[in-house]
Amino acid sequence: MRSQGAGWFTRITQGMGIAALLWCVTPATVQAQEAADFFRQNCVSCHTIGGGRLTGPDLKNVEGQQDREWLVRFMMNPQAVVNQGDPYAQKLVEEARGVVMPQIVGMTRERAESLLDLIAAESKLESSQFGGTAISDAPFTPEEISQGRRLFLGEQRLANGGPPCISCHTAKHLGGLSGGRLGPDLSRVYERLEGRKNLAAWLGAPATAVMAPIFKKHSIKQEEVLALVAYLEDQTAKGGEDMSVGGLTFLLIGLGGSGLALVAFDLAWRRRFRSARKELVLKSTGRGEEL
Ligand code: HEC
Ligand code: HEC
Repeated sequence: MRSQGAGWFTRITQGMGIAALLWCVTPATVQAQEAADFFRQNCVSCHTIGGGRLTGPDLKNVEGQQDREWLVRFMMNPQAVVNQGDPYAQKLVEEARGVVMPQIVGMTRERAESLLDLIAAESKLESSQFGGTAISDAPFTPEEISQGRRLFLGEQRLANGGPPCISCHTAKHLGGLSGGRLGPDLSRVYERLEGRKNLAAWLGAPATAVMAPIFKKHSIKQEEVLALVAYLEDQTAKGGEDMSVGGLTFLLIGLGGSGLALVAFDLAWRRRFRSARKELVLKSTGRGEEL
């Protein structure tokens, strides 16, 4: 039988062995891979490296424009740097039409440094793996649009198990159906996010508070993204405002409903009040029968 001490010893030496192995083999590669995964999950919805601007600027050779210390500080807390009135940040925000880069969950100084290393390395390549997806300008087919609609409504399930859009979003032309209210109306989102490339990048890696955690686990496949873009483009092409007639009716029904509920509540309350009063009167006078 082995003593506990020996067990510890084996475990420690094993641990050291593995650490040493990682250290010798490829610490830099492991770190680079980690940075690449982090970039794919958190940044590609707004940035390319060499593929042009999306919501945020193209990051190719970003260190040629601004020094590393500034960039690290910015990445760790974009809003704070913008609030300081820094002129370079002001210019970036202006070019992004007022969008300020969100605070990225899990951003640390080391991570920012390794992301900048990654961006520098990718900038040297002829074509970076983060060059963005080329989407053709050809009109979407009716099949793509109707597949997008089915995905939106949940009639066709998303391959990686994400919840259907309609559980949180509505859009104008849903044929009488009304979607969820947690997220914004998407009737004009195609226009709002400025077209195919941006919207596709956005859906490929949603980076906002509510959608990011869900769709990080259940990413939307590229062909599904295209179908959804086709559908949302078609929604915008059909015109109309975000707060659709369907939505308004829904709201009015909702208001009507709460009105009814108030009346019912009031009735119930009055009844309770009366019986309570009756009881009080009974107690104090012993002549409740007269009420
Ligand atoms: C929701 C969109 C969005 C996401 C996600 C995002 N950024 Fe940004 N980023 C921006 C915008 C917009 C700017 C321009 C400055 C501004 O308006 O805040 C910017 C600016 C930057 C800059 C400075 C660019 C320059 O030209 O100096 C760097 C570096 C940067 N982002 C890195 C990242 C990294 C790395 C990630 C992922 C960890 C990331 N961003 C995620 C939108 C985003
Ligand atoms: C669990 C609820 C939920 C689901 C499911 C969901 N979304 Fe969202 N979505 C939101 C919320 C909330 C926002 C607002 C930003 C935020 O807080 O994440 C949003 C924002 C968006 C935006 C940006 C809107 C804008 O005006 O900038 C788009 C585009 C979008 N969602 C598309 C979709 C699509 C397409 C699907 C289906 C594949 C989907 N969402 C599924 C909750 C959801």
